[in-house]
Amino acid sequence: MRLSVIGCGYLGAVHAAAMASIGHEVVGIDVDERKIASLSRGEAPFFEPGLQEILTEGIASGRLTFTTDMAAARGAKVHFVGVGTPQQKDGYAADLTYVNAAIDGLLPFLSAGDIVAGKSTVPVGTAAGLAPRVEKTGAVLVWNPEFLREGWAVQDTIDPDRLVVGIGDTGRADVDPAAVLREVYHPSVAKGTPFIVTDLATAELVKVAANAFLATKISFINAMAEIAEVTGADVTQLADAIGHDARIGRRFLGAGIGFGGGCLPKDIRAFSARAEELGRGESVAFLREIDAINLRRRDRAVDLVVDALGGSVFKKNVTVLGAAFKPHSDDIRDSPALDVAVRLHGLGAWVTITDPAALENARRQHPQLNYVEDRDEAIRGADALILVTEWDEYRRQLSPDHASTLTEGRIVVDGRNGLDAGAWRAAGWTYYGMGRP
Ligand code: UDX
Repeated sequence: MRLSVIGCGYLGAVHAAAMASIGHEVVGIDVDERKIASLSRGEAPFFEPGLQEILTEGIASGRLTFTTDMAAARGAKVHFVGVGTPQQKDGYAADLTYVNAAIDGLLPFLSAGDIVAGKSTVPVGTAAGLAPRVEKTGAVLVWNPEFLREGWAVQDTIDPDRLVVGIGDTGRADVDPAAVLREVYHPSVAKGTPFIVTDLATAELVKVAANAFLATKISFINAMAEIAEVTGADVTQLADAIGHDARIGRRFLGAGIGFGGGCLPKDIRAFSARAEELGRGESVAFLREIDAINLRRRDRAVDLVVDALGGSVFKKNVTVLGAAFKPHSDDIRDSPALDVAVRLHGLGAWVTITDPAALENARRQHPQLNYVEDRDEAIRGADALILVTEWDEYRRQLSPDHASTLTEGRIVVDGRNGLDAGAWRAAGWTYYGMGRP
């Protein structure tokens, strides 16, 4: 099928390449010329495992192209809109500038019977507001939220847990958007992936509710970490124990410096803002608390380093292991890791940051910090280490004995509870976890 994908960021670029990889003919469209130039050369403009391969394959097959020219969308049967909806500069609500611009830019190139499938995460009610504009062209607007996780984006797109399509009252009996989208996602549908057809508002809400739930789960365990810290309990054992209850589950109960990234933080804020607009602010008032708990964990990690170094980090060498908001990603949007590094720098520490993928992005955003690519070089001479992104390079592949050969410092703060505390202690290090004795 001929498809267009408007917006070629973390979501759109992966979606375009993944759709080509399952046999569709796809054009990816974005206003960012540098991004399009890079994608057209078959170079992934960001780090995402597996993307490079399907990009190269798609371009070589001739089924995948990229352009800045919206006119290229003409003739596609489904137009996916996957542009960003960042947090507004002066508030919590989502900024819909890019969604509106994408829809307006697309309108002249739509034909009767086309399907516009919104994938961006938007406040509930957005699709219903956009639908009349799209329907004037004879096309139909549906909402098809995306649940991909960075680092697993290719796999999540090709083989998702579920597919959700929200369809409004289109007034067109001749167009069956659900059938068309079933055809688009045919490999998943054929293997029995749940395919949920619903209304526009439910589809929009499914996405924000899922992210709100995940954020709540993380902040719940981080709240337990705060209690563990004053009682001498161990939050990792607590999480293991409650996680055995299938109703609770162990996933997303990783206590540490909390969540970040381009989705969870801004999505829960946008949800609060939208609920308030709807007169139901109290229904999700707890999300403010979820946000507050999350941000407190960054303070806690900084305090642990300060305390471990005798009350001040001034002129102390602190090596920060990680900059990305999570492993397998070069994304530093709202990264708790980078935030901790910046705060330590602000307290006068000599901060050295290392990360296998995100250094370039981090350097661009915070040029004042010291970045060292080589992990061992970064550790050399450190008074304290702090693990903030649980890359395997630090979590599994860095043995405490090896670290001991690189520095005299013997303090390690485990901001992700990812290290083997016993092994580090046995090697003579003073280990500090998050919510652990
Ligand atoms: C999230 C959702 O998982 C995804 O479904 C949605 O489409 C987009 O938002 P993503 O932002 O890629 O995906 O990251 P995710 O894997 O959810 O992690 C989010 C943050 O939570 C990371 O900073 C991670 O380190 C943190 N996290 C995750 C924890 O602190 N503890 C955990 O137990 C799990």
